[in-house]
Amino acid sequence: MKKVGVAILGLGVVGSGTYKILTEHREFYKKNHCLDITVEGVMELNRERALSLGVEESKIASNIAEICSNSEIDIVVEAMGGIEPAKTFVLAALNSGKSIVTSNKELYCKYGHELEKVAKKNDCGLYYEATCVGGVPVIRALLDNLQGNKIISLTGIINGTTNYILTKMADCGAPYGEVLKEAQKLGYAEANPTSDVEGYDAVYKLSILSSLSFHTKVPYTEIYREGITDVDPVDIQYGKHFGYAMKLLAIGKNGEHGIEVRVHPAFIKSTHPLASVNDSYNAVYITGDGVEDVMLYGRGAGALPTGSAIVGDIIYCATHQGNNYSTFNNTEKADLTTKFIKNFESEYYLRLSAKDKAGVLSKITSHFTKRGISISQVIQEKAEDGQVPLIILTHTTFENDVKKTVDELNASEGVAKVLSVVRVIS
Ligand code: HSE
Repeated sequence: MKKVGVAILGLGVVGSGTYKILTEHREFYKKNHCLDITVEGVMELNRERALSLGVEESKIASNIAEICSNSEIDIVVEAMGGIEPAKTFVLAALNSGKSIVTSNKELYCKYGHELEKVAKKNDCGLYYEATCVGGVPVIRALLDNLQGNKIISLTGIINGTTNYILTKMADCGAPYGEVLKEAQKLGYAEANPTSDVEGYDAVYKLSILSSLSFHTKVPYTEIYREGITDVDPVDIQYGKHFGYAMKLLAIGKNGEHGIEVRVHPAFIKSTHPLASVNDSYNAVYITGDGVEDVMLYGRGAGALPTGSAIVGDIIYCATHQGNNYSTFNNTEKADLTTKFIKNFESEYYLRLSAKDKAGVLSKITSHFTKRGISISQVIQEKAEDGQVPLIILTHTTFENDVKKTVDELNASEGVAKVLSVVRVIS
């Protein structure tokens, strides 16, 4: 029976979940995988928390050097989050010959190139399934199952907090701020929700997933980002009228003109499988040139779902010879030959408030005509206080043309004010 010693850095939600799975399933792994996996060390500032989980006092390390010098430890799980001290600890562990399993998306996204270099130098494994979409095995699917395909696109709901908030806003029509407070009370959103609600968390994950999918480095700095803080429930309701659900989508496309990567709220047809991914659930919809469409769905966060991804990596690391590294040149910046498309194409939904007088509608549409933007549907509601709410849906057009049209409409005094613009995924 192969013995595998594990250390866990950080016993917060993810680290505790991992500890629980490993200790409760020890006999199961012995029987089914011929592996005796034991937790030989932990690093956790809150000793009481470690002890209450059942960690023996002697296994609580006071510093990273104790973990690095412990010959019983083969694999170090980093579940601390943040850049420092996680980065220093991971590099120290790699330099002492330990393989790494991490759930830290920000660290892997920003410094994966550096970690991989040190892992290679020391012939260590570097595993990161838990960095993206928690318990949903999307990284393994891309690396070990879909690798025969050219991946054309991936579209994901890869942040549970924002999906929960948008689902509740759609269900009850409540404004963003109110639903956020409720989500914080229920533990779905963090006290400081910025990383989730402004789309940074999704950007880190999309950077990792699109680099793997398209076999070229997609730095997070190349990803267009827009969060959900300005989403108005009025637009979600209008979207429903047109048969759309609003989601914070992470989109990666690899086409003949280059790579397109973006995170923003979008309308998606309610018949699309992603439209029924609600509450804090996540999903990734992948299109490959052979397999066609594949959707992976499940829990993107939480102690046991993320612990499941970590333990999967531990078992993979312990049962595979050699180490797999990136298929692409893993550098900080993108390869010079990689082209990123910033002026992407989409259909658009615009909500305007227009003056209720003769000629206004034709003036508004003339701004669209001027840029060759074709309108597909228009709704004009009843006027209130001389202002009419106007909803315009466009056919596929360029992002930059829509931005210029919006600027011109807002500058056209007394005509209309654009209140919202939402991209529509057809
Ligand atoms: N905060 C993330 C989410 C989970 O809400 O999906 C960890 O990435």
